[in-house]
Amino acid sequence: MLDTHGNNDRNNEFRMHSLMNKIAHNANRLWPEEDLGRIPYWIYTDQQIFDKEMERIFCGPGWAYVGLAVELPEPGAYLTTFIGNQSVVICRNRDGELRGFVNRCAHRGVKLCRQKIGKTNRFTCPYHQWAYDLNGDLKGVPFVAGVNGNGGMPDDFSLADHGLERLQVIEHNGVIFASFHVDAPDFASYLGDSNLYYFERVFDGRELRLLGHSRQLIQGNWKLMFENIKDPYHASLLHVFLVTFGLFRADQEAQVKMDGTGRHGLLISRKGAQQATEATKDIANLRVDFKLKDPQLLDPVKEFKDTATVVMQTLWPNLIIQQQSNTIAMRQIQPRNPSSFILDWTFFGYADDDDAMITRRLRQANLMSASGLVSCDDSEVIKLAQDGIAGAMHEYALLEMGGRDSEDTEHMVTETAIRGFYKHYREVMDL
Ligand SMILES: [Fe+2]
Repeated sequence: MLDTHGNNDRNNEFRMHSLMNKIAHNANRLWPEEDLGRIPYWIYTDQQIFDKEMERIFCGPGWAYVGLAVELPEPGAYLTTFIGNQSVVICRNRDGELRGFVNRCAHRGVKLCRQKIGKTNRFTCPYHQWAYDLNGDLKGVPFVAGVNGNGGMPDDFSLADHGLERLQVIEHNGVIFASFHVDAPDFASYLGDSNLYYFERVFDGRELRLLGHSRQLIQGNWKLMFENIKDPYHASLLHVFLVTFGLFRADQEAQVKMDGTGRHGLLISRKGAQQATEATKDIANLRVDFKLKDPQLLDPVKEFKDTATVVMQTLWPNLIIQQQSNTIAMRQIQPRNPSSFILDWTFFGYADDDDAMITRRLRQANLMSASGLVSCDDSEVIKLAQDGIAGAMHEYALLEMGGRDSEDTEHMVTETAIRGFYKHYREVMDL
């Protein structure tokens, strides 16, 4: 029906135009194969895909890692971090209970809290000084009743209606997770049995000791980071340091495990000796005669209940739990846009570590983070992957090492966990 100005006609025309655009866009965005052996490159570059990921994956019914309980030791302590590309605040209220909310003033959307970590009893917006308490409730609006009878908010304005957007927050054995979703599942069933087992292998209820933070900007799509950790095939080739000193090699006893959905994954391996074998013959630049000038850099001691020396756990949607020898860390993935993400590292040990163990953990941490002897290889190759796929809108990656499905395996010569990740990704993203 037309209104007197013909606006409905124009609106309908506009709607039809956007719908046609959407259909045309989606037609170019079909996953090429029914099996899991291909990944189209547009998932790493397309802004619309990125926006949909932020909504469905990071605001969906899951638990995103946001910090360690030891970082918030007392009432009033807070930290700011990201879930997807949204800044969030996690704090302890006056009763010591964990609270979480979006770091965005309910007035005009301004980022409220700019510090990474701190202690406060109020969050006050820098723009118009709207003030919120540690539960995210709005407590004060300057000039709410006007000045000298002028202005002010309408009579029906109520502070109670304009608190910060709340998150669900849980803590499991010292690790804090948050969710945008009111119906997030309980944590144990979210992880599944094998992932919960390995999570509690590191987080067994002992008090943690924070050892340090490190952050890096990586010029690649955030999913490439998950792929990297779910990819033991590369680890025995790219990381000559690991292979040279026997920390990770394709012939070692190993498992790749996933949860029932494929979204979470585990690479589990056991250290071997420094030697050339069948597994190293394809590594062009391997030098088995290399020796460390300071062998203390690698002096791992057994500390966990099983014989695994490396367990890399990937938890949907934003966490890597790294245990390589005695260096333990959280790596949190913070997507910024389709072609870059922040990798936020938190190194830790346990409160009852002695001085020798703290030193050992810190020394072994030299393998990791932006300039790490091992992980700098990954950040560089992720950027090369992003560079290589630029403009390749109709091409796709080949993902057939170890088969075309996503079964758990007892070896490392496989890309099965990446296929598991994309099996779940396609369901969530409806692709
Ligand atoms: Fe790697």
